[in-house]
Amino acid sequence: MKNNTFVIVGTQWGDEGKGKIIDVLSPKADYVVRFQGGNNAGHTVVVNDEKFILHLLPSGIINSEGKCVIGAGVVVDIEVLLNEIEKLENRGKKLDNLYIDERAHIIMPYHIEIDKAKEEAMGENKIGTTQRGIGPCYIDKIARNGIRIGDLLDSERFRDKLKWNLKEKNDILIRYGKGTFDFEKLYEKFMKLSEKIKHRIIDGVVEINEAIEKGKTVLFEGAQALMLDIDYGTYPYVTSSSPTSGGVTVGTGVSPRKIDRILGVMKAYTTRVGEGPFPTELDDEVGEKLREKGNEFGATTGRPRRCGWLDLVIGRYAVLIDGLTDIVLTKLDVLTGFDKIKVAVGYEIDGKIYKSYPGNLRKSKNLKIIYEEFDGWKEDIAQIKKYEELPENCKRYVEYIEKKLNCNISMISVGPERSQNIYRYDLGEFVL
Ligand code: GDP
Ligand code: IMO
Ligand code: MG
Repeated sequence: MKNNTFVIVGTQWGDEGKGKIIDVLSPKADYVVRFQGGNNAGHTVVVNDEKFILHLLPSGIINSEGKCVIGAGVVVDIEVLLNEIEKLENRGKKLDNLYIDERAHIIMPYHIEIDKAKEEAMGENKIGTTQRGIGPCYIDKIARNGIRIGDLLDSERFRDKLKWNLKEKNDILIRYGKGTFDFEKLYEKFMKLSEKIKHRIIDGVVEINEAIEKGKTVLFEGAQALMLDIDYGTYPYVTSSSPTSGGVTVGTGVSPRKIDRILGVMKAYTTRVGEGPFPTELDDEVGEKLREKGNEFGATTGRPRRCGWLDLVIGRYAVLIDGLTDIVLTKLDVLTGFDKIKVAVGYEIDGKIYKSYPGNLRKSKNLKIIYEEFDGWKEDIAQIKKYEELPENCKRYVEYIEKKLNCNISMISVGPERSQNIYRYDLGEFVL
């Protein structure tokens, strides 16, 4: 098996620790490429107690000398991007290695206002979005109205597209009872912004494919996760992109034939931010304890994350849809000190047993979760580096998940720091 191209995706509802894992694996990567989503993502990297939260920049930017690419499938809020670049530069990082595919779409200020207005108007039916304009920007892309990063290089083209869009978007904002945007002001603003990112615009398709053909190592960094996928997630409580491994192909122009390994990042329990179904959610003191011990507050919006036990129905769905070759189990340390640990292994709905996540699960009185229960462990595992040194009950938990999912748990994360990892199976080129 070749080991040059790795995909890293979230297998639950996001915030599994993807940023940390990308950071750990990135020093040997020649490229780290984001392929979907936008600044709805919040990827945390912790190095010697110093914390970085990345929203648009690929998480490889901290630890890799390679090139970092914002791929075609990403939606880019240019002001947020410039802010992130500036903040990192102020902390001593040089960002000469950052590029953006000319095909990536721009999140315009009206997208953000429409996102907010729509959420407000939906009231209790709201999605609970991050209000970053993600949905409205992807709507424009699919409706073929979108403005792309490459359009900034042709001021006439940008002007025409903005003019038409603004007419439509101002009408929408008026209908929501919101303020409108002035064409000239917005046009001038974007012409100025474009001066600051022009030099980073590339043809990512050519760049990444040529790199792979030359045998370079590439990490594809997913944002969000399977259960937020526009097709396979808990629709309509999802994001507007494809965070699954299939999204890599769509979002970078790299053929599935060129992907060597697919790593699913799986938290040892489950969290979710925003509205929507969450079968193993705990509304009690156990859920509260998970939130406190795991410090489960959103990296982007600061919202408390909803918490619950690990759900292997979803795990199985991830192995299937993402085609996982490996699992990276994260935040196992957070489970230390629980007397009992539960894992969902099936759902029973109206007497029927489901082992894979159903396409139309509603909040149902008749949904019964089938749990397996484990004895917990008390020993601190945060500094352990060798699998054999984990407490017996902890290993039993890990091996149970592995067996049920029929997928190697190749790496275990036991703390937020770059150094807090246990490697179990070979991860090829990427492990130092
Ligand atoms: P991402 O969106 O998937 O990159 O995840 P986030 O960064 O939003 O959330 C994960 C949080 O857990 C961050 O605060 C990380 O620093 C932290 N974290 C990552 N891995 C571990 C781990 O193994 N143990 C603990 N205790 N925290 C972790
Ligand atoms: P990372 O990459 C967790 C959730 C929002 C909301 C839904 C739609 O850090 O794992 P959107 O703004 O995308 O239209 O919101 O998706 N959401 C995330 N939840 N982690 C994320 O990213 C998320 N990105 C979006 O809370 O429920
Ligand atoms: Mg996050």
